[in-house]
Amino acid sequence: MTHRKEVLSNEQIQQRIQEIATDITADYRGKKLVLLGVLNGAFIFLADLCRAIDLDMEIDFIRVASYGTETETSGTITLSKKPELNLKDKEVLLVEDIVDTGLTLAWLVEYFNNCGAHSVKVCTLVDKQERREVDVVADYVGFSINKGFLVGYGLDQAELYRNLPSIYTLK
Ligand code: IMP
Ligand code: MG
Repeated sequence: MTHRKEVLSNEQIQQRIQEIATDITADYRGKKLVLLGVLNGAFIFLADLCRAIDLDMEIDFIRVASYGTETETSGTITLSKKPELNLKDKEVLLVEDIVDTGLTLAWLVEYFNNCGAHSVKVCTLVDKQERREVDVVADYVGFSINKGFLVGYGLDQAELYRNLPSIYTLK
């Protein structure tokens, strides 16, 4: 990675996760919560988020195959890994790394609304509004960032840089 600029430090990320987790803990108390992480990008965010939520919960993962370029989604989406848990009557909270065009998220919300879940909500670490194509709103947002391609803390460029503890923009 030749030129990179830190946009969110790991300390900032951890502090915001505590705030979101406090909201989620209050909102889902007494409910059958399932965190559904969207692989691969959300794996680190989910790991930190789930440990900050003070509730019993089930955790599972899905993986989306979308036919697009390295940096942009096409909107033609399938699940290349489905959840193993039974989601019937559960409160599903999708955990995403980034909402960009919104195409992936809009498809996922529709899909899980049609599989018997009692509710489907979305928690995203980053909400990137610059390239939004469909009107989709995340229920819990870590950070709103207008532009730039981000890497680190689970986010990749061509599968690299997921392991960086902070978030950077590539220049
Ligand atoms: P979209 O909202 O359907 O356009 O796609 C969102 C997905 O594209 C995210 O879950 C990421 O995997 C990927 N993505 C979008 N923007 C970025 C970025 O800045 N860095 C890394 N991945 C990104
Ligand atoms: Mg990705």
